[in-house]
Amino acid sequence: MRTPIIAGNWKMNKTAEEAVAFVREIRNGLSQIKGIDKVVCPPFIAIPAVADALQATEIGVGAQNMHFAENGAYTGELAANMLTPYCQYVIIGHSERREYFNETDEGVNKKAKAALAHGLTPIICVGESLAQNEAGETQAFVSGQVRAALAGLTAEQVASLVIAYEPIWAIGTGKSASAAQAGSIIGLSVRGPIAEMFGEDTAQKVRIQYGGSANEKNIAEYMAQPDIDGALVGGASLKASFVELVKNAV
Ligand code: 13P
Repeated sequence: MRTPIIAGNWKMNKTAEEAVAFVREIRNGLSQIKGIDKVVCPPFIAIPAVADALQATEIGVGAQNMHFAENGAYTGELAANMLTPYCQYVIIGHSERREYFNETDEGVNKKAKAALAHGLTPIICVGESLAQNEAGETQAFVSGQVRAALAGLTAEQVASLVIAYEPIWAIGTGKSASAAQAGSIIGLSVRGPIAEMFGEDTAQKVRIQYGGSANEKNIAEYMAQPDIDGALVGGASLKASFVELVKNAV
């Protein structure tokens, strides 16, 4: 049985002060919801203070990105061992990073390896554009992203990580993929290739999230899909109703 997991990707929102005030507001409500892993992913600068405010709780903290190198001349970047004092998770290869910061499948693979080597759980993002979706390329493209991201990992490492399927056309648009559509793509194009690469047993252990305009109203439909184990939530994770969203996911 896979434990469901809901993660809030705050993107470039909230100052450190606002971040702490917000997690103080939601931590009790979130803590009362059992049987599901809860994670918040604030901007880097807010991470230490948020981790401190969540210390005695079971709410996890994730970063939104990291560099794959151990250290070095990479101005503006952070290495895995700078995150590990505060974070258990790290989002890797979000479509916004692929689009605006030129992240490649190869870089995503290197980051996943570095994160795992440092004991961080990667949340690896995949997903097709609207043009690819309309051209019928979703399955080939998404399964290619999955294969590239996981190349060279062990089955044990793969079983421990999280993948978020986020169709780019559904992110921040209010236009979510239907639950049946998302469930079927996740089964065919995410869990399918994992089974081919690492075996059915491993594929059944990987937690796979849906992302793209998920909210407190539609989350239950996604969770009802057998292959969907949670959500990576953007806009709806910035408000106190995030507690409601998590509640509706169990
Ligand atoms: P929205 O929930 O705002 O559509 O964002 C989804 C997302 O990109 C989460 O990583």
